[in-house]
Amino acid sequence: MSIIFDKNTQCFHLSNSRISYIIRLAAGKYPLHLYWGRRVRTISEDMMVRRSPWTEDRFSLNETAMDYLPQECPTFGSDLRQGMIHVIHENGMHALILEYESHRVMEGKPQLAGLPSARGEGAESLLLTLRDKVSGVAVELCYTIYEDVDIIARSVRVINGGKTPIVLDRVLSACVDFERSDFNLITLSGAWTRERQLYTRPLVPGDQGTSSARGASSVQTSPFMALLSPNATETSGEVYGFALCYSGGFEASVHVDQHFLARAQIGIQPFNFSWTLEPGEGFQAPEAYLCYSANGLGGMSRNFHAHIQNHITTGKFAHSERPILINNWEATYFNFDEEKLLKLARVARRAGIDLFVLDDGWFGHRDDANSSLGDWFDDTRKLPGGLAGLSDKIHKLGMKFGLWIEPEMISVDSELYKAHPDWCIHVPGYPRLEYRDQLVLDLSRQEIRDYVVEVIVAALRRGNVDYVKWDMNRFINMWGSPALPASRQQEQPHRHILGVYDIMRRIIAQFPNVLFESCAGGGGRFDLGMMCYMPQAWCSDDTDAWMRCRIQHSTSLVFPPSTIGAHVSAVPNHQTGRTAPLSTRAAVAMAGTYGYELDLTKLPRKEIEEIRVLNKRLHEIQPILLYGTYYRLLSPYEGNEAAWISVTGDKREAVATHVYAQAFPNMRDKLLRLTGLNPDLTYRDTDSGRTYGGDELMYHGIPLKKPWGDYMSQQFHLIAID
Ligand code: DGJ
Repeated sequence: MSIIFDKNTQCFHLSNSRISYIIRLAAGKYPLHLYWGRRVRTISEDMMVRRSPWTEDRFSLNETAMDYLPQECPTFGSDLRQGMIHVIHENGMHALILEYESHRVMEGKPQLAGLPSARGEGAESLLLTLRDKVSGVAVELCYTIYEDVDIIARSVRVINGGKTPIVLDRVLSACVDFERSDFNLITLSGAWTRERQLYTRPLVPGDQGTSSARGASSVQTSPFMALLSPNATETSGEVYGFALCYSGGFEASVHVDQHFLARAQIGIQPFNFSWTLEPGEGFQAPEAYLCYSANGLGGMSRNFHAHIQNHITTGKFAHSERPILINNWEATYFNFDEEKLLKLARVARRAGIDLFVLDDGWFGHRDDANSSLGDWFDDTRKLPGGLAGLSDKIHKLGMKFGLWIEPEMISVDSELYKAHPDWCIHVPGYPRLEYRDQLVLDLSRQEIRDYVVEVIVAALRRGNVDYVKWDMNRFINMWGSPALPASRQQEQPHRHILGVYDIMRRIIAQFPNVLFESCAGGGGRFDLGMMCYMPQAWCSDDTDAWMRCRIQHSTSLVFPPSTIGAHVSAVPNHQTGRTAPLSTRAAVAMAGTYGYELDLTKLPRKEIEEIRVLNKRLHEIQPILLYGTYYRLLSPYEGNEAAWISVTGDKREAVATHVYAQAFPNMRDKLLRLTGLNPDLTYRDTDSGRTYGGDELMYHGIPLKKPWGDYMSQQFHLIAID
């Protein structure tokens, strides 16, 4: 891995043994994007001027150039298409022409102030400083290349180096101009209980992409997109993936211009964003990850997975086994008392479950969703001994104790609201529109953040917790903060997210031994920003096994199983009414951080025994499932089956899972081709005791039984015997 600046060609070449990213300073001052893809030794000088309507000694940003130039950091002013940065000067006019000022190569990578960002083990970074000579505004572009993953991390910082204030009303994090546009675009869109559904379509001239203006990455959209070459598949062909390390509103877009060239960009949603910079101040935009794969979508995913596991997730649990949990939400919803919880916990313990999680409804007087958020004191009607009493009893059962919190919110029916009716995000004079009966605390304000940190830390200490589920159940539609002047109101969405990150950082830092899981009304903040603080996230409130096959398949485009919260729930399923066998519900949930979410006290003894056996098996295979190399085998978006496999780094062990949605009459036994194994090894299937060659399993397949009934599954644990 290296970053080299060639003075003769004026090129920066970032490369590892597989990929190259090349930037050229045209006329010694304008950074142009030359190349991103499979590693090349160099780009010839002919190619360097291919889009340049000028000669080196007579460079000008004339009209044609502004339409053509593959700029690394296009701005309104130097480019006729949507740029990355838009600056409004004190006179209300906009212009910015950035020229090279200096560069620096450093080992590792800088951490972004106030924002989550990847670590820089085994990485090198290029810091390129550009400046607008007229206004003095500087832009620092940061590029990081890693040795172990084919990912370039990019971020942008704007510094007002002038003498008068400026307003930024667009600062994206990355822009890549392609020499072509014959791509298929993948984005993930959905809804509550239908998160991150996979959508693919060819690019067309004009604008396309995905975005969120909901104040969160959201259940409807995801801060990710991928461009697939026309022949790209799951296993082959070129794919360019883009993901943003940010949990607020975002935009990921592709513009196809008049010459059928594609420009891809990703960053903070420009809608309702602006930021004033006084002289000397800087603005840091979030980090974006650009992933190149020559091995199809699967290659892209494995790079994102390794990046998340090696450079994003942090803390004690980032690489360790996760406890099997029971969560009382779908077992009791708000209707519980200590007795009921303990009954559930006792059965759970007998079934070999490690961690009891108390979900929503333990505080204030919260018997449904319309009260008490903000009142983080124990409801002694339900818990006579408070959190401390319950936690103590759970610990005495030999289980760990976990707790649900939703620190960012406030209910109108709460003591907190009575004391501080102005602490919520609101616009004076307008109705405070509730969503799931709640309002959002204005976390752009320091005193509110301090209060939240204090009461939440106290609750977690009181409960002596081992695990926390950090929920966030509403989006934001009306922004307003009395703490900001009129000219800065559009800073609030980003300031609020910085505030969310601030309280997360401060709270989590006090509990290094506690496992944190993020959640947002299901998977409404399943993004890389959250992953920097909490190593796992609740994937969806949809626990239906077949729907989960779809949601987890597309979530795995970016996220590894170790980040995907997945539970076995009751049948008929509470979201779809479907009934899937316990074995299938478990096999699907095992593709994530595993748990249960049902009333075990209502299950027959036989099923509890089945659960105990499943849990024992999971403890044996969980390291493979969570940290093995993950391959999608069959897509539930394409037919009646889903399948995936996780293989250990040394290829000596693997777990493969296959699910049929529906059974049809007159079906036949068939073969499932596996992947990622060592063709020269012989593997034993631990259940059947049968042995197979790795080559046979990959090129011929493992026999599958035909389904008898809907939602049948088979799981194979394969161990090399030679
Ligand atoms: C939404 C979460 O996704 C659920 O699992 C549950 O915790 C509820 N919130 C509780 O209000």
